Amino acid sequence: MAKIILVTGSVFGAALLTADEIETALTDASHDVLRPDPQTIESLTDDTIDYLVVCTSTTGSGDVPDDLVTLYTGLRTEYPRITHLKYVVVALGDSSYDHFCGGGVTMDESLADLGAQQIKPPLKLDALEVTEPEEIAPAWVVAAISEHLTA
Ligand SMILES: Cc1cc2nc3c(=O)[nH]c(=O)nc-3n(C[C@H](O)[C@H](O)[C@H](O)COP(=O)(O)O)c2cc1C
Repeated sequence: MAKIILVTGSVFGAALLTADEIETALTDASHDVLRPDPQTIESLTDDTIDYLVVCTSTTGSGDVPDDLVTLYTGLRTEYPRITHLKYVVVALGDSSYDHFCGGGVTMDESLADLGAQQIKPPLKLDALEVTEPEEIAPAWVVAAISEHLTA
């Protein structure tokens, strides 16, 4: 099956819990899931990786959480070669804020700018409507990758 790298950005833990469940679902679907620690751009430049899954919340005013800043800043300043990567973004946010899901949207745009291939538009999960994102995101990610693999 596919070799998948999973990176997360979370302040209060919701995106982290969601990522844990995504990892479990992908593993159950026989994929090989890597969660780099630390999360740096070097972890994305391994060209044996098939897919990247980003699961991040938003903080501040549409910003990526601190634990994703190193990776995000690396993308914006070092311009790594990542055209081999196919990716999806799971974005947690709250539509009562001005920049809804800004962290996920920013990551999506940064990856696309560098030539990574988006396989599906970001899944945006609004905390006002979805109280348990970990119940929705795993099946969505597994389906997105399965559909892409069989297309
Ligand atoms: C201080 C603060 C700022 C936030 N800013 C935004 C924002 O700009 N846009 C947005 O969509 N959500 C924003 N949110 C909502 C969070 O992204 C949302 O509650 C998310 O589910 C939190 O996930 P986490 O527990 O992984 O951090 C903010 C939340 C807090 C507490």
